[in-house]
Amino acid sequence: MTADNGAEAQPDGGAAVPVITIDGPSGTGKGTLAARLAAHLGWYCLDSGALYRVLGLAAGRDGIDLDDETALAGLAANLGIGFAAGRVLLEGEDLGDLIRTETAGLAASRVAVHPMVRAALLDWQRRQVRPPGLVADGRDMGTLVFSRARLKVFLDASAQERAERRYKQLMKKGFNVNLPLLVEAVRQRDARDRDRPVAPLRAAAGAVLVDSTAMSADDVFERVLEEVRRVFPDQFHQVAADANGGGLEAVPG
Ligand code: DC
Repeated sequence: MTADNGAEAQPDGGAAVPVITIDGPSGTGKGTLAARLAAHLGWYCLDSGALYRVLGLAAGRDGIDLDDETALAGLAANLGIGFAAGRVLLEGEDLGDLIRTETAGLAASRVAVHPMVRAALLDWQRRQVRPPGLVADGRDMGTLVFSRARLKVFLDASAQERAERRYKQLMKKGFNVNLPLLVEAVRQRDARDRDRPVAPLRAAAGAVLVDSTAMSADDVFERVLEEVRRVFPDQFHQVAADANGGGLEAVPG
């Protein structure tokens, strides 16, 4: 990856600098939760799914077959990804809503099955660990990328509920979607993410399991905040003292 945050990298799986990992299937609200926690704590935030989404989009642009592991790994190693003010950039270009489409999610899920691709993205992800802390969301944050993180959360919800949430989001954005097809797409993506041989989606040992099917985003946030208080009591006092703590993005450069 060409993008890098440079100094103060902590390639130790999250032992020295506090790291919170949030894993789970698509559509559980991991991204929202991660961003909100990071903002609350004044920590950096890593949306690892965006890496795979950008890679899937970049492959499409370059005409690379999503089954061509070697070519995809080469692309991943030189991917000019950037994050700025909540936007995801490819070679400096704002990808806008393209990154959040079902097509991008599906392409991401397909490129993510390749071990060489995952290996090419590993170091870059680990270099996002910087003081004062990192909240990272994805599928293998707690099991593999930040295996020494002190707080690991596994956020789940039923496939039907996740598809319905996604349906509402997409309708609001003006996309034309069909709910039964969305439920089927969610199930297929889950199966691919859970059944792949490398870094399959599963809860890390010791992860706090939160089923958000019948919970609001606020309930989930409060539930996880309880755990943050329990695991990082000192950090929490610091946050309370610094009411200005705004979330930081894992911005390269
Ligand atoms: O979290 P998301 O929906 O943006 O992720 C898109 C796809 O990327 C997901 O279906 C699987 C893959 N992914 C992964 O394999 N590992 C991660 N850490 C994050 C995402």
